[in-house]
Order: sequence, then C-alpha cells, then structure tokens
Amino acid sequence: MNTKIIQIKDLKEASLAFEEAGELLKKGELVAFPTETVYGLGAFALDGQALKKIYLAKGRPADNPLIVHIADFDQIETLARDIPPQAFRLRDYFWPGPLTLVFKKNPRVPDIVTGGLDTVAVRIPAHPVAQELLRRSGLPLAAPSANLSGRPSPTTAEHVWEDLQGKIPLILDAGQTQVGLESTVLDLTRDRPIILRPGGVTQKDLQSALGEEVLTYQEGVVSGPALSPGMKYRHYTPGAEVILLEGDVSFCKESIYKIIQKKRKQGKKVVVLGHRVGDVFGEKYISLGKNPSEIAYNIFAYFRELDQKGYDTLLIEGVEDAGIGSAIMNRLRKSASEIVSS
Ligand code: TXA
Ligand code: MG
Repeated sequence: MNTKIIQIKDLKEASLAFEEAGELLKKGELVAFPTETVYGLGAFALDGQALKKIYLAKGRPADNPLIVHIADFDQIETLARDIPPQAFRLRDYFWPGPLTLVFKKNPRVPDIVTGGLDTVAVRIPAHPVAQELLRRSGLPLAAPSANLSGRPSPTTAEHVWEDLQGKIPLILDAGQTQVGLESTVLDLTRDRPIILRPGGVTQKDLQSALGEEVLTYQEGVVSGPALSPGMKYRHYTPGAEVILLEGDVSFCKESIYKIIQKKRKQGKKVVVLGHRVGDVFGEKYISLGKNPSEIAYNIFAYFRELDQKGYDTLLIEGVEDAGIGSAIMNRLRKSASEIVSS
C-alpha cells in the first residue's frame, strides 16, 4: 500500500484533503492525523473491521483498548451510558483538550474498541485538524497513538511515516504536536475519580475543577484486573537502552560518571539528556528543555532522533514528579530498562 502524506497549512485550503480522509474512513480505512498531544491513528469507531486494522498496523495487543475521539459533547451518549455529573464540569474546564474520560460503555460500541472491558474512553481533541476531520467526516474516531506498539508516540508526521509507511493509506501532516505527551486518562466509573495515565491535565487541575479528591493511579490501585490495560506494557522505547536517574543533583552527577565509565568500557555510544547538569564528563549532552512543558514537547522526538544517530545508551535525568512532571516521569519509567535512584 502506498502511504500518502498531505500537508495541511490552512484549513480552508485543505478541503480536498479532508474529503479524501473522510472517504477513506467511511470505507473502513485508517487515517493518521495530528492532535494537540501526539498523532493518532484513526478508524471509524463503530466499524469492527476497520478497528482490526488498527491493531494489525500497530502490532498492538488485543486487550489494550482505544480512545474514541469526538467533535461534540452531544455525541457522547452514542458511546457511553450513566454519564456522571463530573463529566459536565470537566467538559467545561478541559474540553476540547488533552483529557480522556472513561465511562460505562454504550452496548453499541464494539468490544474490539474497549478490549472487552465494559467501559469506554472518550476525548474531544483541541487540534484544529483533528476537529475538522471529526466534524467533516461526522464519525467518532477510535485513535491510539500512531506508532508501532512499544515505540515512542509520534509527535510529527515523519515519525508516523517511520513506523507505518506502507501499512496505512494517508497521513495528515500539520507539523509537530504542541503537548508532546499523550492525554491524561481519568476513570469516572468508580467511587472516586482515578487518574489511569498522567498527562497534560494534572491532578491539581482536575481537583480544582471538580472540588473533590482525585486519586493517582498508585493511590487508586485495587487488587484484581489492571484498571487500564495499557499501563502494564513496557512502552515508549527507542532502540537504545534508557537509563533513568532519579535523585538530587549531586547524586545524579556521581551516578552519571559511574555509568559513563562502565558503558565506555563496554564500547557503548552514550548520550546524556537532562536539564540541570553542566559537566557531563566528556559525553554528548542534550538539554531537554528549560521547563517541564518544553521537556514534554521534546522528549519523544529526541528518543527517535538519537536512535537514528546510533546511540546505544540514553542516560536521562528525571524531573520532579509533580504537575506535568508526573506525566514525563511516567513515560520515562516505562521506557527505562534501568532506574538508578537515590
Ligand atoms: O493523547 C492521546 O490520548 C492520544 C491521542 C491520539 O489522542 N492517544 C493515545 O492513545 O495515547 P493510546 O491508545 O496510545 O493510549 C490509550 C490509553 C491506553 O493506556 C489504554 O489502556 C487506555 O488509554 N484506555 C483506553 N480505553 C480504556 C478504558 N476503557 N479503560 C481504561 N483505560 C483505557
Ligand atoms: Mg500509545
């Protein structure tokens, strides 16, 4: 299959591109498109055959459910039932935006979307291209991140191309995505709201919007099946090994030195990624950004770039586990083959 990339600079001039994308989706084909978080791989959410293609193209385990994207809150009843009052508040504060809400599912949503769960994850994305695609096609779109399963999520159309060329017919290209990490996933089906995946909308944001306590995944973990099946898989891994350093500055410097020595002896090509070390003992150093938002924006793109440059080991300094830093640390911990902590 030939994979076409269409650049979208101006929504008004891209009418044909949206028409083509809509036609493909209606025929049960896949279309990759930008959202404000990362690129998504979209299929019509009520078309079982199209949904199978998502799992196939990504090599995704069948028990890892998909997020359904909609343009308007009115569409929610077609996907979910027993919508709790919190949903309306959260809509007012955060939608459209990088927040996904988990509801009890409407029986018409195919099991393949929800990995057999009786819940469904829904989001209204803010990116104008995603909105236009949803509106013009009129379809709810199931869309996981548009990467091969286990690889870093794509923040550019080139990343999607790297992973999925030849497997999908169309990629809509609108440049690099703004947030850089996937949406916050919040479960509203339990006694209390639980964050299943930290993201751009933080625990504090959610608590002040709702005026009630919101639990993190760790706080909300109960025995039994995984709350969010995606959480159990190792993720976001470049080909290189990732070593994550957690701790204070001096600790990190010492650890960096020791690890670099060890890796040099093994003949490994090492790069250090961080935000606060000045001296890195002669190895290439990359600053990931001046603040957590910049780091979130850059991190997945660096993973891919350094991989292509043939580095064997990425030594990454952690950030404070708070605010959007929690989302960064969640992704770094999942990508790491080794965590060195104080
Ligand atoms: O920002 C995002 O959320 C991006 C863009 C494209 O919207 N999408 C994305 O999708 O990151 P994906 O498939 O890579 O991650 C979806 C996460 C997985 O961890 C999955 O397990 C969880 O959401 N999830 C989906 N449906 C769920 C459900 N019914 N209950 C619990 N977790 C669910
Ligand atoms: Mg993903």
